[in-house]
Amino acid sequence: MVSEEQLQAIRQKLQTLKESGELDGEGADRSENLHRLFMYPAMMVPAAQEAVIKAFADCMPVGAWAIDPFMGSGTSLMSSMEFGFNVYGQDINPFAVMLSRAKVEKYDIPQLKAVCQEVSDRIAEDNDTSVAVSFRNIDKWFNPDVQIDLSKIRRAIQNVDSQLIRYFLWVIMSEVIRTGSNDRTSTFKLHRRSEEDIQKRNVNVIKEFAVLVNRGIEDIATYWDKLSKEDEKVGAPRQIIADIRWGNTKESIETDTEFDLLVSSPPYGDNHTTVTYGQTSYLPLQWIDPKDLSCPYDYVKTTQEIDRRSLGGQTIKKEVMVSIAPVYTKAPTLKSFFEGVPADEQEKYYKTLSFIADFDKSLDKIVANMKDDAFYIWTIGNRFVGNREVPNDQVLIELMESRGIQLFERAERQILNKKQPKKNNFSKTMEKEHILIFHRSM
Ligand SMILES: C[S@@+](CC[C@H](N)C(=O)[O-])C[C@H]1O[C@@H](n2cnc3c(N)ncnc32)[C@H](O)[C@@H]1O
Repeated sequence: MVSEEQLQAIRQKLQTLKESGELDGEGADRSENLHRLFMYPAMMVPAAQEAVIKAFADCMPVGAWAIDPFMGSGTSLMSSMEFGFNVYGQDINPFAVMLSRAKVEKYDIPQLKAVCQEVSDRIAEDNDTSVAVSFRNIDKWFNPDVQIDLSKIRRAIQNVDSQLIRYFLWVIMSEVIRTGSNDRTSTFKLHRRSEEDIQKRNVNVIKEFAVLVNRGIEDIATYWDKLSKEDEKVGAPRQIIADIRWGNTKESIETDTEFDLLVSSPPYGDNHTTVTYGQTSYLPLQWIDPKDLSCPYDYVKTTQEIDRRSLGGQTIKKEVMVSIAPVYTKAPTLKSFFEGVPADEQEKYYKTLSFIADFDKSLDKIVANMKDDAFYIWTIGNRFVGNREVPNDQVLIELMESRGIQLFERAERQILNKKQPKKNNFSKTMEKEHILIFHRSM
């Protein structure tokens, strides 16, 4: 149980943090080290995450567990591990599962280097010019020579015995797919580059793959060096457990573990429009061997499938209205927000309502796995829909309070360089995020 003095100390640390400007991640390089393994949408800023988690680390029991039920690229998990937390993460996107696993696992570096050398040799010796995969519109997204080279990389990875090393290599291949495909990559939705642009480009995926493999190995080694320096401070190597699963948080948390801390950022309800986690992962998922994917194959069949099954994926009015009704009682702010929208504009907000109804269901599952005196660190943005700011922060506060969990502290951070489109066709974009910290008063 956290004592009154400890709560005071946490408040004090958070206050100092708010005044320091550290939360904005000013000067922080999000591409540093292992975080740059793959450019996943809406990655959190590690420096900001670490600063907040640090305020809680001292009052947590030895062997404490942190959870991110929407782990994305695993930033929160990596940050929590730095403070000695065991971590659990889940995500509905099988690519996020692979990416996070590749980042949090402790590799044997000499073995990793040796296997990567074998992979590189195998690619160089491969004279096969057949294309190893086929999917709809493959020629639209990949030039013929890129298809042949990616097939060589794929065959070489399939030959690796260690599943964990395959994960690392699939992720590197995915980053090469992202940059070597004909997708414009300036938005998260797939858009083909112009013909002229495609003709002008000089893509060499094999060379790029080799560069990124070496960089990835260095980044892993640097991350674990950082962790072992922390071990030295503590005086003994910590045995950190990282448990990563594929799962739909709206349906269940795939473990019985009880958690001391939640550090997460949910999707903000724009997975169909601007931040399309699933669509961004679609091309890599077509090339990765299905035997290494953690989900049923139907999730990766179309560009829309993962986003459709994610929070807020349901857009049929009648169903949305049924699922939002019980949420209105818990979150009156949402009800008055929606009632304030003129009838002829309400349709634009079904996705928002659908997201919040799903998020509410997810909270039931999450809270059931949290210890009574757990802390919850949520980062959430009030996105704009039709130029109206959706009060996600206040809605979250009300949804948590309806479960007897109160707001403990809050802070804001300016979004300086979060990887998101600078503007979209629909409305203004967010300039700040809210860090909302909750705790159940005993
Ligand atoms: C904002 S991102 C998380 C960012 C992450 N905390 C990080 O540090 O990179 C939101 C994630 O929620 C996932 N998601 C959406 N719906 C989900 C669901 N029903 N169950 C589990 N994950 C879901 C998305 O796939 C996406 O990866």
